[in-house]
Amino acid sequence: MTPVPPFLTVLQSTARALVDPGKGILAADESFGTLGRRFAAHDIPFTRENRYAYRELLATTPELGDAISGMILFEETLSQPIADGTLLPSALVRHGIIPGVKVDTGTRALPAFPGETTTRGLDNLRARLADYAARGARFTKWRATFAIGDGLPSATAIETNARILALFAATSQEAGLVPIVEPEVLMAGGHTLDRCGHITRGVVQTVFARLDEHRVALDGMLLKTGMILPGEDCGQAVTSTEIAETTLHVLQQVVPANVPGIVFLSGGQNDVDATERLNEICRYDNPPWTLSFSFGRALQDAALQVWAGDAANVVPAQAELLKRARFNALAVQGRYAAGSERVFA
Ligand code: 13P
Repeated sequence: MTPVPPFLTVLQSTARALVDPGKGILAADESFGTLGRRFAAHDIPFTRENRYAYRELLATTPELGDAISGMILFEETLSQPIADGTLLPSALVRHGIIPGVKVDTGTRALPAFPGETTTRGLDNLRARLADYAARGARFTKWRATFAIGDGLPSATAIETNARILALFAATSQEAGLVPIVEPEVLMAGGHTLDRCGHITRGVVQTVFARLDEHRVALDGMLLKTGMILPGEDCGQAVTSTEIAETTLHVLQQVVPANVPGIVFLSGGQNDVDATERLNEICRYDNPPWTLSFSFGRALQDAALQVWAGDAANVVPAQAELLKRARFNALAVQGRYAAGSERVFA
């Protein structure tokens, strides 16, 4: 008989709270490398002071908890004090936002498979999770990436990453932390919408087979995935309706109904496209799971641009973040319209 994880009720209630209808997740868990590149694009010096200032700006945005259920943090941010002397996760809790943490330590080349990756971080994961839980984290995230190309992704890359995702998820649940399992099929390349759908179906199906083998409680986890899109170099013109129908069709084939929620990443789409497509996906009736967002760039890009590393810009930058969060909160209810942008302008 499959053992019941000791914290199952806690896992179930946290997972449900993260996909509270009308809210979504803010991904602000960029590694030093990724955040450094984002800062460099705006000529913001990559110092600890600036990283702290930026993450405090995001976490203390007034009213953010109306539209955001949880925030994924990078490890450094879990221990970050904010201006009033409290630690940042406590500030989130005061806003009604659940703190979470990215626990993988990034992708590395998969040996003998050029162009493919696996994700590191399983070593010492159990000890790290106990520490993160003590620092206030209630959920975790692990990202595996899959490039589409000539013969890619290979069956070996899919299998290896699915196994690692399952080990991560089981270890996270053992620690009482809801795992967000993120197999990301990358947008780079010239593939069509259909090929993205075909690859995503195979990847997600394998991931759920391994989650089952590793006795992961599906009602105490979330799936984070990309929308089904043509590759960025494909040139195929597709409507939001085609994207929504293909995405839902694929997910309905491979995601079990007892998974409480599927949250979409933005993956390099511009913020307005990401919101419009999310809205289209969420307009369809009765999928078995709650659909929502866990955007990084599509929530943060405008705020980062306005802030530009200057303390004088914190308030207008927070207004940009709140605006995008509210639009996406409307989108998960299928209530976003391009005209809504004016309401908060
Ligand atoms: P994007 O929305 O910028 O793709 O980031 C989401 C994320 O958490 C990727 O792991």
